[in-house]
Amino acid sequence: MRGLAGRALLLALAAGSLAMGPGAPPPEYGRVVLGRSARKAGVPAVGFDHWRHRALFTCRLCHVDVGFAMAAGETGVTASTNRSGFHCGACHDGKRLHQEKPLFAACAEGGRIDDPAAACRRCHAGPGGAARRAEEFARITAGLPRDRLGHVDWERAEAERRVRPVDQLPGLSIPRRPLEMKKEVAIASGAAWMDGILFSHPKHSVWNGCEVCHPDIFPSTHSGQARYSMLQISSGEYCGVCHGRVAFPLGDCERCHKRPVR
Ligand code: HEC
Ligand code: HEC
Ligand code: HEC
Ligand code: HEC
Ligand code: HEC
Ligand code: HEC
Repeated sequence: MRGLAGRALLLALAAGSLAMGPGAPPPEYGRVVLGRSARKAGVPAVGFDHWRHRALFTCRLCHVDVGFAMAAGETGVTASTNRSGFHCGACHDGKRLHQEKPLFAACAEGGRIDDPAAACRRCHAGPGGAARRAEEFARITAGLPRDRLGHVDWERAEAERRVRPVDQLPGLSIPRRPLEMKKEVAIASGAAWMDGILFSHPKHSVWNGCEVCHPDIFPSTHSGQARYSMLQISSGEYCGVCHGRVAFPLGDCERCHKRPVR
């Protein structure tokens, strides 16, 4: 970032219209509440935490193979889709092993929501429980590298092999060899005073394969084709589909804007 004028504008952007501050505290960051069908049935809403799952699985596995939408509330999960082995039930089926123990089942037939043996409330947690989540977050992410804002630096955690997210599961994924794309794409920021952006294909493909981004989020595979603005990103389009919701938040300007303006 260059110059006083640039910095002043930057502060104004960060403070005001773009609302790109640090946002939710780390244990709540990336939490999605699914409640549409739960509300209708009069059972507590379901909380889904990205941090506990992304430490174990890639984004691609859930958002392509399992088929969850990358937008809260868009998938249409119900007790019956879960029971039929889709959605949460693709893994939480009472049979699939995790660390040699079967994973607790989603919406098991005949279970009562408050039966302590049935594990319903592990998902149907309802509001509250933030203190318990903060404790579990601290336990699960202990020892993982942190970024400037105190969030887990998942990119480094994976590069250092402290997390090894699984990209394919038997019975769920069609085995295949991943496509390769070694290219770093340079993107001009469109503002003379703002550093340019470096986009790394190898670093993104680890988590996202290719299908998560092409063709839905970035239809063109020619760099420089789609022009979009920071405002669109902060409203959840393009890079903002993930950054600011699940991947590191937009307040960390310099992690993307790292090509100094000459
Ligand atoms: C692994 C997580 C998980 C567990 C465990 C779980 N559920 Fe669910 N359940 C969900 C999700 C997700 C939904 C969809 C919520 C929504 O979008 O409103 C749901 C929806 C429901 C609904 C709403 C009605 C419908 O048809 O969708 C009922 C009732 C329900 N579950 C009952 C239960 C009962 C009873 C148990 C325990 C025996 C249980 N669930 C355990 C994840 C879970
Ligand atoms: C274990 C499965 C799973 C994994 C792994 C996973 N997600 Fe998700 N993701 C979900 C579910 C479930 C939802 C909620 C879908 C819904 O509400 O319809 C979701 C929603 C999202 C949303 C929308 C959030 C919002 O607030 O609108 C984004 C963005 C997202 N995921 C990105 C990612 C990224 C990036 C990764 C990898 C770093 C990832 N997900 C890994 C299951 C997963
Ligand atoms: C790709 C497989 C996979 C999918 C899909 C998945 N989960 Fe999980 N989930 C796991 C694994 C593995 C764990 C870790 C279990 C453990 O540590 O014992 C876990 C843990 C959890 C926990 C922590 C429970 C506790 O008390 O410790 C919750 C809550 C949860 N999942 C909810 C959900 C919900 C809700 C969905 C669907 C919206 C979902 N999961 C989809 C694999 C999955
Ligand atoms: C996180 C999102 C994301 C993922 C994952 C991703 N790409 Fe891209 N890709 C982009 C962006 C952004 C551009 C630049 C497009 C632009 O600026 O308009 C791009 C550009 C490209 C280009 C054009 C490069 C050039 O210099 O002209 C190709 C080819 C490409 N991607 C192939 C792939 C392949 C193959 C994979 C999987 C290995 C992949 N992409 C994964 C976001 C992604
Ligand atoms: C996840 C990556 C990412 C983060 C984090 C990020 N940006 Fe950007 N920003 C971009 C991309 C990509 C573009 C360029 C889009 C294009 O021109 O195609 C851009 C463009 C801009 C521009 C050019 C003018 C405009 O409105 O498009 C400004 C100014 C800007 N960003 C400011 C910021 C500030 C201030 C922050 C921190 C509060 C920030 N950015 C954080 C990716 C990011
Ligand atoms: C499909 C989801 C998704 C989209 C879209 C996406 N990213 Fe990312 N990005 C991730 C994930 C996941 C990581 C791993 C780190 C994390 O989760 O915080 C990451 C990491 C990064 C990193 C750190 C690694 C590195 O290269 O140094 C940068 C910088 C970055 N993204 C920039 C961008 C920019 C710029 C765009 C838009 C052109 C973009 N991302 C679009 C998911 C996404």
